[in-house]
Amino acid sequence: MCSQVVGLFILGVFLLGRSPSYGQLSATYYDDTCPNVSSIVSGVIQEAFTSDVRIGASLIRLHFHDCFVNGCDGSLLLDNTDTIVSEKDAVPNANSTRGFEVVDSIKTALESSCPGIVSCADILAIAAEASVYMSEGPSWTVLLGRRDGIIANQSGANTALPNPRQNITQLKAVFEAVGLNTTTDLVALSGAHTFGRGACRFFSDRIYNFSGTESPDPSLNSSYLETLSALCPQDGDGTVVANLDPTTPDVFDKNYFSNLQENRGLLQSDQELFSTTGSDTIDIVNLFASNETAFFESFVESMIRMGNISPLTGTEGEIRLDCRKVNNDSSGSADVLVSSI
Ligand code: HEM
Ligand SMILES: *[C@@H]1O[C@H](CO)[C@@H](O)[C@H](O)[C@H]1NC(C)=O
Ligand SMILES: *[C@@H]1O[C@H](CO)[C@@H](O)[C@H](O)[C@H]1NC(C)=O
Ligand SMILES: *[C@@H]1O[C@H](CO)[C@@H](O)[C@H](O)[C@H]1NC(C)=O
Ligand SMILES: *[C@@H]1O[C@H](CO)[C@@H](O)[C@H](O)[C@H]1NC(C)=O
Ligand SMILES: *[C@@H]1O[C@H](CO)[C@@H](O)[C@H](O)[C@H]1NC(C)=O
Ligand SMILES: *[C@@H]1O[C@H](CO)[C@@H](O)[C@H](O)[C@H]1NC(C)=O
Ligand SMILES: *[C@@H]1O[C@H](CO)[C@@H](O)[C@H](O)[C@H]1NC(C)=O
Ligand SMILES: *[C@@H]1O[C@H](CO)[C@@H](O)[C@H](O)[C@H]1NC(C)=O
Ligand SMILES: *[C@@H]1O[C@H](CO)[C@@H](O)[C@H](O)[C@H]1NC(C)=O
Repeated sequence: MCSQVVGLFILGVFLLGRSPSYGQLSATYYDDTCPNVSSIVSGVIQEAFTSDVRIGASLIRLHFHDCFVNGCDGSLLLDNTDTIVSEKDAVPNANSTRGFEVVDSIKTALESSCPGIVSCADILAIAAEASVYMSEGPSWTVLLGRRDGIIANQSGANTALPNPRQNITQLKAVFEAVGLNTTTDLVALSGAHTFGRGACRFFSDRIYNFSGTESPDPSLNSSYLETLSALCPQDGDGTVVANLDPTTPDVFDKNYFSNLQENRGLLQSDQELFSTTGSDTIDIVNLFASNETAFFESFVESMIRMGNISPLTGTEGEIRLDCRKVNNDSSGSADVLVSSI
C-alpha cells in the first residue's frame, strides 16, 4: 500500500515533470476539486460586509494591485520575511490597501473545505466579482486556475501601478505596459471608483496647490471643492477619507461617470478621463454615463482581461497554504515522501 502511494507520487512527479502544462484559465477549473468555492468566498465576504461597508471596494482593489505587478499571482499578499520584500510597503499600497484579514478568512474557510486546492490569486479574482455583485453591480463567470507566485516585487509595485496625480498620457502608458486597452479598459476599470474611499493625502493638492500653482485644480466643480476643503483642511489629517463617488458611495453603478461630467471626480486621474481636451476617453465616459448596461458589459470584459494578465498556470508556482507566505517546500514535499516510505 505504502509503496503504491510512493509509486503514484513518483509517477505523478515524473508526469508533471515531463509534460508541463501551459493551460489557460477556465470557468470550470474547481468543479471537481472544490465545487463550492464561489459560495464559500461569497459567504465570508457577506459576513465581512456586515461590519465594513467598504470591504467590497477594498477587495476588488487588491485584485487590481495584484494583477498589475508580475501578473495575477497573489504576490501582493506576501508579508515581509528575510527573503520577501513585501509589495504591501510599496507607495501605492502602504497604509492604503486593506482587506487582507478577510482574504485570510476566505483562505481558512477554503482550506477547511478543499485543502491545498484554491490559489490565493484565484481568491482575489473570485472576491472581486462577488464584491461587485453584492454592491448591485454586474455578475460574471470568473476564469480560474491561477497559481501563486513565490516572489514579491516591491519595486515593480512602485512603478507598474498608476498614481492619482498622473495625466492621461501617463495613465495610458501604465495600462499599455500590462497589455490592456488604453481607452476602453482604462475608462471601464476606472469605473470601479464608483464605490470605496480615497484619503485626503491623495487629492488635497487639487484643493490647495494644484501642480504647484497654489490654487485649486481649475477642473474641480466649485461646490464639490467646498465640500472637499471642509473635509480635508490644509495641512490636516491626510488619512481622513472621502467617498470616491459622492452620490451613491457604496453602490456599484454608473454614477462615477456622471460625476466626471459634472467635474466631480475625486482624484485627478479620474477627472483627466473627461477633462483632457481631445482625449479619446471622453466619448467612452459619455457613453457609460448614459447607458449603465454598456458600462457593465465593458466592465466585465475588462475585468476578465485584467484577470488574465500573466497568470501562472499548470505546474508554475504553487498553491499557497497561507496567503501571506510561500510554502516551505523543503519541509512540505520532503515530509510527504519520508512519511510515505
Ligand atoms: C486608473 C488608475 C487608477 C488610479 C490612479 C487609482 C488610484 C486610487 C487611489 C489613490 C485610491 C485611494 C486609496 C486610499 O485612499 O487609500 C483608490 C481607491 C480605489 N481604487 Fe483605484 N486607481 C486606479 C484604477 C483602479 C482600478 C483599475 C480599480 C479596479 C478595477 C480600482 C479600484 C479602486 C477601489 C475600489 C478603490 C477604493 C478602495 C477602498 O475603499 O478601500 N482603481 N484608487
Ligand atoms: C455546497 O453548497 C451547497 C449549498 O450551497 C450545500 O448544500 C452543499 O452541502 C455544499 N457542499 C459541500 C461539499 O460543502
Ligand atoms: C503608515 O502609517 C504609519 C502610522 O500612521 C506611519 O508611521 C507610516 O509612516 C506610514 N507609512 C507610509 C508609507 O505612509
Ligand atoms: C518587477 O516589476 C517590474 C515592473 O512591472 C518588471 O519590469 C520587473 O521585471 C519585475 N521584476 C521581477 C523580478 O519580476
Ligand atoms: C503628462 O505628463 C508628462 C510628464 O510630466 C508630460 O511630459 C506630458 O506632456 C503630459 N501630457 C499631457 C497630455 O498633459
Ligand atoms: C481599444 O479598443 C477599441 C475598441 O473597443 C479599439 O477601437 C482600439 O483600437 C483599441 N486600442 C488599442 C490601443 O488597442
Ligand atoms: C505648492 O507646490 C509647490 C511645488 O510642489 C511648492 O514649491 C510650494 O511650496 C507649494 N506651496 C505651498 C503653499 O505649500
Ligand atoms: C457642479 O456640481 C453640481 C452638482 O453638485 C452640478 O449641478 C453643476 O452642474 C456642476 N458644475 C459644473 C461646472 O460641472
Ligand atoms: C445600451 O448599451 C447596450 C449594450 O451595449 C445596448 O445593447 C443598448 O442598445 C444601449 N441602449 C441604448 C438606449 O442605447
Ligand atoms: C522550512 O523547513 C525546514 C525543515 O523543516 C526548516 O528547517 C526551516 O526552518 C523551514 N523554513 C522556514 C522559513 O520556515
